[in-house]
Amino acid sequence: MRLNAYLARAGVASRRGADELIKAGRVTVNGEPGQLNTFVESRDRVDVDGRPVALQRLAYLLLNKPAGVITTAHDPQGRRTVVDLVPPEPRVVPVGRLDVDTTGALLLTNDGPLAHRLAHPRYGVEKTYVADVEGEPTDAILGALAAGVELEDGRTAPARVLRLGQHTVELTIHEGRNRQVRRMLDAVGHPARALHRSAYAGLTVDELDPGGYRELTDREVEQLRRSGPPPA
Ligand code: URA
Repeated sequence: MRLNAYLARAGVASRRGADELIKAGRVTVNGEPGQLNTFVESRDRVDVDGRPVALQRLAYLLLNKPAGVITTAHDPQGRRTVVDLVPPEPRVVPVGRLDVDTTGALLLTNDGPLAHRLAHPRYGVEKTYVADVEGEPTDAILGALAAGVELEDGRTAPARVLRLGQHTVELTIHEGRNRQVRRMLDAVGHPARALHRSAYAGLTVDELDPGGYRELTDREVEQLRRSGPPPA
């Protein structure tokens, strides 16, 4: 794997941070200065600042993200992030993102290739959201959400929409555009007062308290690997 990916898997830094370490000449591979295009295998010896680093085990965590926490691996402004809610080792990063006020299912992993596939639009991971909305949407409004609504970045794909209560709507989508569900609800005149992702790729967080997390089982990881189209 590429040296920056190796350093990320070793928990040294994010890939971008690893690039900075490499450029600064702080990384050696088998005693030679590492380059941005250096490839390494598990038998290679990698040192940072003269100290050896080793790959960490692959980890897959499902977090029930609470409101008020941002979805990033590192916030330059020092705000609380989803990574602060899970163990520091092995170092994992979120797959995709939830808005700061959105709660619910968020996957974190250090399996870069799987994370990349899951976050890619063509993979079409199914995500289910429960929205508490302003006003009482009519059946016609729910039909419009299901058929697809016009947003500034184009029409949304068909969605599954269910009424769960007077002000509560469940939407299942396969896309993952920025603030998509909030923008869909704004577009039909029923802004979200609260938004919760109840399921991501079939993984639900009903049994987790807000801020709680659990490791995926081997079977769940296998299912994630198998679902969707094969990698391009
Ligand atoms: N759609 C949104 O509007 N917000 C999220 O956090 C996720 C999906």
